[in-house]
Amino acid sequence: MFIGPHELPNRLFVAPMAGVTDRPFRQLCKQLGAGYAVSEMVTSRKDLWNSLKTSRRANHEGETAPISVQIAGTDAAMMAEAAAYNIDRGAQIIDINMGCPAKKVCNKWAGSALMQDEPLALEIVQAVVAAAAPHGVPVTLKMRTGWSQENKNAVRIARAAESAGVAMLTVHGRTREQGYKGQAEYDTIAAVKAAVKVPVVANGDITSPEKAQAVLAYTGADAIMIGRAAQGRPWIFGDIAHYLATGEHRAAPLTQQVKQWLLHHLDDHYKLYGEFAGVRTARKHIGWAVRALPGGEDFRARMNTLETCATQVQAVADFFDALSVAHDRLPLVDTALEDDEAAQDAREAACTAN
Ligand SMILES: Cc1cc2nc3c(=O)[nH]c(=O)nc-3n(C[C@H](O)[C@H](O)[C@H](O)COP(=O)(O)O)c2cc1C
Repeated sequence: MFIGPHELPNRLFVAPMAGVTDRPFRQLCKQLGAGYAVSEMVTSRKDLWNSLKTSRRANHEGETAPISVQIAGTDAAMMAEAAAYNIDRGAQIIDINMGCPAKKVCNKWAGSALMQDEPLALEIVQAVVAAAAPHGVPVTLKMRTGWSQENKNAVRIARAAESAGVAMLTVHGRTREQGYKGQAEYDTIAAVKAAVKVPVVANGDITSPEKAQAVLAYTGADAIMIGRAAQGRPWIFGDIAHYLATGEHRAAPLTQQVKQWLLHHLDDHYKLYGEFAGVRTARKHIGWAVRALPGGEDFRARMNTLETCATQVQAVADFFDALSVAHDRLPLVDTALEDDEAAQDAREAACTAN
């Protein structure tokens, strides 16, 4: 599997998730079997490039290549400038966000809303490709199946984007109108795959090795991309790789091993965010890691009141030590995707790009 000149170790990708797939989390997923990860989106608004949020998002220190940066915006010239800016800071692949359903990105209709305006969408793709090509940087596009049930234009946009020089297309099997409701459908992804020659990545509701295999087979996609199912379970990529290779499930990870992964992640996380923001933003990762485990919900409530790195780390270590007394390996977890109101609010907040 290649994106432009970059060969990837496998075809299991981490989806870009604003507020989640920061550098520490991307690194963890890659360490545990993901072949590729895209950064959280960076705004095309220049006035925000020096904000703490954007500069943290543009931090790729120590990240395994290829470094892929997603950009979001609604103006072709600004998007081209954003591509050049991120290439100067180490981006080896530029991904254009036409997949985020947030109402507004940077106070304007961006993300998947762009799918409603095909000429503008194409103008943006052309401008970004023109900015990236002289640097030998491939441009990829992430989109949904369309604007609404009546307007599924992914195939048209895919063909136009391919003609404009895009090196890979990712399709989330929902329309913009759907947000995260209903089920992802894979017929449109299969149709996109059949319509273009560049690699196509299937995304949406992939939560298990069986589903991964089924989606790959049904769509003919070159790769799959996983978002929410990797929250708190970054070893899902290794699980899927094992299943695709052998047809068998590997054993759940050792509880002590999961503790080590999480503690290492926390250490990396605090280094990027500092103590105050780090402790608070780590809570969601810890919450996802424990939510389906015995005693997880109680622990989550208690842990959310802790305010220092030291107490948070100790609480996590104690929780997993206690769990490992009865469970050598992590007890089977429920893989339902969390999509309550709080999750939606967090997504909306994270998707404002300042
Ligand atoms: C918290 C959150 C933040 C997201 N942020 C982005 C983003 O910045 N850019 C983007 O293209 N998609 C974003 N998405 C969409 C995901 O990349 C993915 O397309 C979607 O979650 C469907 O995949 P899944 O069912 O595997 O989660 C986000 C999703 C979530 C849950």
